[in-house]
Amino acid sequence: MRVCRTITDIRTALEPCRDITVGLVPTMGALHAGHLSLVAAARAECSVVVLSLFVNPAQFSDPGDLNGYPRDEKSDLAIAAEAGVDLVFAPSASEMYPPGFQTWVEVTEIGARLEGEHRPGHFRGVATVCLKLFTIVRPDIVFFGQKDAQQVAVLRRLIADLALDLELRALPTVRDPDGLALSSRNERLSSSERVLALALPRALATRDPERARALLESAGVGVDYIEIAPFDPPVLAAAVRVGTTRLIDNVSLEEDS
Ligand code: PAJ
Repeated sequence: MRVCRTITDIRTALEPCRDITVGLVPTMGALHAGHLSLVAAARAECSVVVLSLFVNPAQFSDPGDLNGYPRDEKSDLAIAAEAGVDLVFAPSASEMYPPGFQTWVEVTEIGARLEGEHRPGHFRGVATVCLKLFTIVRPDIVFFGQKDAQQVAVLRRLIADLALDLELRALPTVRDPDGLALSSRNERLSSSERVLALALPRALATRDPERARALLESAGVGVDYIEIAPFDPPVLAAAVRVGTTRLIDNVSLEEDS
């Protein structure tokens, strides 16, 4: 597995791959089984699998959240190599946002609600970094998790609106056996908070916003939002606060059960 730190480096590494299927899995590191399900899907469909590792400052509105984001590149690289990644793109912040950077892409409507309302500028940061990663890597297929259903909706819109020549695959949410969706933020939960956090998948399982809200509030979990979102498929989406940790999750409203 080769690790590229600069745009020039990754472009050079990918030069011999222009006639074969290139898959890209964008991540911010702290890799877990959710990320690995995307790598496995990419591995199954693509000849070359590129994983990006970049904690994107532009999508964090809270500096404390950015500084506290788990970073362990050594372990991430070992996990990526083991999972069969061919190329890792791990740029510095100044490689992605050089001095004078001032070009942003915004998906105005889908990006403004739910997460966008509670984290202003978040999807502008996500859309901009993803478009830049797509331009650098020029993947045929990009792989994202349905765990972040609004992110998928924003990026699908971006790809359609800007006529990007790539396909997006959205993969199902990977959960712990007790139902909690895997997230790097789970590492921040104490053991009692970890138990409280289970109210989130339980509430979503009702597939009913009012019942779900009541369940979360009676469990003592702070609700940022819990709403039906008209994505494809429609989902019941929620963001909650367990102690100081903010968790998001959603369930499809089209599945059985
Ligand atoms: P990150 O949170 O690292 O997630 C990278 C990818 O893994 C996203 O597509 C996310 O939806 C997916 N993922 C996270 N948890 C998952 C789970 N439990 N099951 C399945 N997939 C899961 O999302 C981002 O990074 C960033 O916004 C990024 C797209 C990299 C842009 O900076």
